[in-house]
Amino acid sequence: MYTHLEQRDSTRPPVSLGTLDKMKQEGEKIACITCYDASFAVLCDAADADLVLVGDSLGMVLQGHESTVPVSLDEMAYHAQCVARGNRHAWIIGDLPFGSYQASTEQALRSAARLMQSGAHMVKLEGGGWTTEIVRALVERGIPVCAHLGLTPQSVHALGGYRVQGRDEAAAQTLRTHARELAEAGAAMLVLELMPSALASEVTKALPIPVIGIGAGAGCSGQVLVLQDMLGITQGKLPRFVRNFMGDADAAGGSIGTAVRRYVAAVKDGSFPVESIHTY
Ligand code: KIV
Repeated sequence: MYTHLEQRDSTRPPVSLGTLDKMKQEGEKIACITCYDASFAVLCDAADADLVLVGDSLGMVLQGHESTVPVSLDEMAYHAQCVARGNRHAWIIGDLPFGSYQASTEQALRSAARLMQSGAHMVKLEGGGWTTEIVRALVERGIPVCAHLGLTPQSVHALGGYRVQGRDEAAAQTLRTHARELAEAGAAMLVLELMPSALASEVTKALPIPVIGIGAGAGCSGQVLVLQDMLGITQGKLPRFVRNFMGDADAAGGSIGTAVRRYVAAVKDGSFPVESIHTY
């Protein structure tokens, strides 16, 4: 099964935080994709994805839950291990699931350590304000952190659904403040989800760290999509920021690996997302 692992480019250096900072500074777009197992990790890596996110979205796309809330730390650790086995070059981000960091800084440290020992290079946590001290504590102890603002799916019940965030000026101002505080606390990356493109672009320009958008417009340092969404596997009505890279009219068939490559290439050459189609 893994003979193709050995065939991959062993001269390409693994992506590091330094690589990502340089990409941000030089305006080179960063391609990220969610990934939950070893076989897809091989494909994402071979497609030159810079980042793979072991997202708690696995609760929805793999486990069939209606939200990410039921996902456990054990499950995230298992999937991080699977991805780490297939990956060679991409930087692996592991999502801290709901209930694994909210209780205390100590709980967050233990949970983050578990994901790092499972193969993640960085952990991601949702929210701003109350998370700032947690981020600082993790970073001080050598754990790289990605923050996540805007639509934070673990808070879907509090937010009243999967709605665009930061539309009014007060919400936009809170978001700007939280983003700045998280970067000052040492977050090395920020995910912005489902918000007006102009706001995400402004935050990206204001911060020294890479900002990865999902439904946040083309002005971010890079993009992330959920694998099952961009492969056309997810059924039902999808958010407008999703593009099906398997079903593109110009795709002329092709394999899953080709679709992932096409996504990575489209992020890197700036042809995805399109402001008039995929943004708010
Ligand atoms: O869990 C996930 O896949 C995520 C992305 C939607 C950013 O957090």
